[in-house]
Formats: sequence, structure tokens, C-alpha cells
Amino acid sequence: MTEESHLTDSNYVRLLRHCVPRNDILSSSFLQTLVLMLLFFLMTPEKVKQALSKVNDPELQKDLVSLNMVRDIKIDGEKLSLTIVLTTPACPLKSVIEDDCIKALTSIGFKKENIKINMTGEVRQHGIQGKEPLKGINQIIAISSGKGGVGKTTVSVNIAIALSQTGAKVGLLDADITGPNIPIMMGDQEPPKVENAKIIPKENYGIKYISMGVLVPADKPVVWRGPMLDGVIRQFLRDVIWGELDYLLVDLPPGTGDAQLTICQAVPLAGGVIVTTPQDVALLDSRKSVNMFKQMNVPILGVVENMSFFICPKCNERTDIFSHGGGESAAKELEVPFLGRIPIELDVRIGGDSGKPITAKKPEHPISQTFKDIASKIAASASVTTINAIKTPVTK
Ligand SMILES: Nc1ncnc2c1ncn2[C@@H]1O[C@H](COP(=O)(O)OP(=O)(O)O)[C@@H](O)[C@H]1O
Ligand SMILES: [Mg+2]
Repeated sequence: MTEESHLTDSNYVRLLRHCVPRNDILSSSFLQTLVLMLLFFLMTPEKVKQALSKVNDPELQKDLVSLNMVRDIKIDGEKLSLTIVLTTPACPLKSVIEDDCIKALTSIGFKKENIKINMTGEVRQHGIQGKEPLKGINQIIAISSGKGGVGKTTVSVNIAIALSQTGAKVGLLDADITGPNIPIMMGDQEPPKVENAKIIPKENYGIKYISMGVLVPADKPVVWRGPMLDGVIRQFLRDVIWGELDYLLVDLPPGTGDAQLTICQAVPLAGGVIVTTPQDVALLDSRKSVNMFKQMNVPILGVVENMSFFICPKCNERTDIFSHGGGESAAKELEVPFLGRIPIELDVRIGGDSGKPITAKKPEHPISQTFKDIASKIAASASVTTINAIKTPVTK
């Protein structure tokens, strides 16, 4: 092996800079320009890919090239443009990955200012739990809670909106058939249109949604037995024209009953999210939700602690109305991720009751930012479970 063969392109430039006498500015810069020109002349998309194969997606713990994330490499002299297709547009590590790519590309000779990276996301579809995916729907995520009134619907609606604000196509299925609240919070309770015996989902704030609340008058109770609930949830999954969706969020009723069973059995779930308040009684019930998902082989994406604390708008004093930190310690104890805490906030309640969710109406509000952070973590975890599932065969 000759000594030159050990030299990478960038080392070669450095070596030349070192060898040419400093006082001979003309020839030094001339030589450097020549070598750089030669270097870029010899640069190929393969070399770019080779450099990027050393960059890992920290969450998926695989390199970007193996994950088929590097696309559209274009080299124009010293200029380079390419697209990185992440597994979700809501990726929380977007800027970390972009920085790592730039480092890898400058190490092979490109100047930072000549690199243009288009960071996008493409939610991948795959069956999970050995089940085939629903046509057009990439990932289904169930939101559950042990007990009612902890803010599960509030979280579902705001997370859905936060995900759609990243550019994802999002649907919301209200699986709480006997206590449907999605239409109130989404601000439109009018019945949906029906086309060829299929329901066209309602749409507001960029979210497609379906709920029993738009099918029966608000003051009429739905008194149904298990098999009927099962039937209507299956219809919501298969007889609604959802179109192409990146995420379908399912707002489950509280507890671990028929609706949960139907959802877990009928469709592949990228994961389940558990919403809880921090006090002991709520946490006790949340443990049941965690165990239900575990029993049904549904990956648990994490625990959200809602109504964590209250900051008095007048004196700024914080009160832990429902105790403190219970969601996080329960998540730790159950060995599931803790996704974040949402305080009690008047704007959240008013937004929910008036059909103007805070994330849509006040996107700059700190709580909207919290919802966005939680949404990103959910999307990132769902990417991991989906990518991991790609290794497992799907039964046809
Ligand atoms: N973080 C919060 N701050 C203030 N009010 C909240 C918050 N989360 C939920 N609420 C309110 O609490 C009530 C119950 O929430 P909801 O989402 O319907 O709970 P669930 O679906 O678990 O029964 C609603 O009136 C809602 O607006
Ligand atoms: Mg609810």
C-alpha cells in the first residue's frame, strides 16, 4: 500500500497547504484552488453518502443511509444540496441530525455555506403486532387513561393539532362512544356527510375527525352493549373515508373495557399514550392502562401528566392541586417514558369548552409549546416502534 492511499481527500488538501511555502502565496493559493477544483470534480453522490453513513439517527440508533433517509443528492461544483427524510416531520432531533450531517459533509471538503439540506419527514407505514396496516393510514396511536376527567380528550385534540402543525396529516377517532367530547373541543358538532355508504370525516383545524357526537344529538344518551360498541368502532376505522393520514389518534374512553380491546385487536397500533393526573387514585388506574397495553403487545409511548400544577395568574404562586410528580415517578416505576407535564390553565379549559383548542388558537402560548414538545416525543417514539416492527413479518 502506498502512503498516498492513506490520504483522504480532505487530508490531501491539508497536506498540500502545509507543504507549499507560505511566502509563495500565488502558487500556494493557485495550487489549493486547483486541488479543490479537482476534489469537487471527483466528488460523487456515493462519497456524500459514504460520509453520511457515519451519521446516526440518535433515536433509531442506525445511520441515515441504512435508514434510507438520504435523498436527492445534487453536486454543483463546490455546492451540495440534498434532502434528509426523517421518520416524522415532528422529529425533536431535527436540528441535531442536521448539525451532524453538516459536520460529516465539511469533513469531506464542503464549506458549510455551500451545503443546503432540506430536512423533511415521511411517516413510515408498517404493520405492527403482526397485523397489516390500514390502507392509507401510516401510524395509529391510542390515547388512554385509567379514569375519566384527567384531560385525555384535551390532550388528544391538542396533540393532534400540534402534530399537524409540523406538516403531518392527522386524523382523530373518538372511541369514547358513550361520552364523546371530541366534536365540542373541535368546535363543530354538525353531522358528517355520507357518500356511497361511507362517512366523510369532519374537518377542523386541519384535523379530520369522527365521533359518535356528530352522529347522535348531543342530549341523547348512547346506551349500548359491548358488541355494538365494537361494531361502531370498527366502522369508524374502516367505513370513514380517512384518505391518506400520517397519524390517526384514537381517543379511548377511560378504563380498560370493550373499546380498548377492540382497538387493540382490530388495528396495528404504533403505540399507546397514557394520560394521568399526578394524584395517587389516578396513578393507580393508569397502571392498569399500562398493563393492558403490555398485555395486548402494544408499545407504550409514554405517560403525560396533565393538571400537574396551577400558577396563580394574580400572585404567580404555584399550587400542586393534584399532588406533585406522581406521573413521572409512576412512569419510572413502570419503566415507560415520561413525556411531560401540562399545568392547569384556564385558557386550556376555555379553549376546550368553546371549541377553540389552545394549540390552534394561541400557538405561541407556553402550554401550546408544551403540547408541541410532547407531540414530538410521541412521534419520535412511534417512529422507533414502527422501524423496529419492520424487522418482524406481517401476517397476511
Ligand atoms: N390542563 C388543563 N387545564 C385546565 N383545564 C383542563 C386541562 N386539561 C383538561 N381540562 C379540562 O378538564 C375537563 C376534562 O377534560 P377532558 O379532556 O374532557 O378529560 P377526559 O377526556 O379525560 O374525560 C375539561 O373541561 C377540560 O377543558
Ligand atoms: Mg374524554
